Amino acid sequence: MKLHEIKGVSAIELNISCPNVSKGGLAFGTDPEVVYSLVKACRKRTWKPLFVKLTPNVTDITTIAVAAEKAGADAITCINTFRGTLYDAQKDEFLLGNVIGGVSGPAIKPMALLAVYECSKKVSIPIIGVGGIYNEDDVFEFLKLGASLVQLGTVIFREPDIPVRIIESIEGKLK
Ligand SMILES: Cc1cc2nc3c(=O)[nH]c(=O)nc-3n(C[C@H](O)[C@H](O)[C@H](O)COP(=O)(O)O)c2cc1C
Repeated sequence: MKLHEIKGVSAIELNISCPNVSKGGLAFGTDPEVVYSLVKACRKRTWKPLFVKLTPNVTDITTIAVAAEKAGADAITCINTFRGTLYDAQKDEFLLGNVIGGVSGPAIKPMALLAVYECSKKVSIPIIGVGGIYNEDDVFEFLKLGASLVQLGTVIFREPDIPVRIIESIEGKLK
C-alpha cells in the first residue's frame, strides 16, 4: 500500500535535509535544481498535501524554498537541524558515532526565525516554522514572522505534553 493511500495520513513531508546519515542526506536538499526535480517527481505521485522540509545548511535558503514552490510543494517546513559535532577534549574523541550530527533546540531559534522570515518574502505557499520552539511566546514569534503552522521537536523529549499545553494556552489568544 502507498503511504498516501492510508486514510490517517493527511499530508506527506519530504525531509530533504537530514544531516545525520553518512552519505547524501544533505546533498540533495542544497541544490535548487535537484530540489526542483525531486519535488516535481514526488508531486506527480501524490495528491495529498506535500510539504518540503528544508535544510538551513545552505548559503541562501530562499533559493531552495522557491525551487520547492515552483515544483508544486504545498508548503515548506523551515528548518531542519544545523550541522554540528560534539568533542570530548579529555578523552580526545568525538561523541557522535557519525562525527557530524544535527544541532537543534533553543540555540537555533534565531536562525530558524530568520529562515521563516526570509522565505516568507519569497514564496506564497504556507511556511511551517520549526527550530527551538519551547513555549507559547516562541510560537507567536514564528507566526508573526511568517509561519502559518509550527512544529515542536527537541522540547518534546523533555516535556512530551508540551504541544497540548501550548495549544490550550494560545487557543483563546489566537481567536
Ligand atoms: C533526535 C532528533 C531526531 C530528528 N529526526 C528527524 C527526522 O527523522 N526527520 C526530520 O525531518 N527531522 C528530524 N529532526 C529535526 C526536527 O524535526 C527539527 O526540524 C529540528 O530538530 C529543529 O527543531 P527543534 O529545535 O524544535 O528540535 C530530528 C531532530 C532531533 C533532535
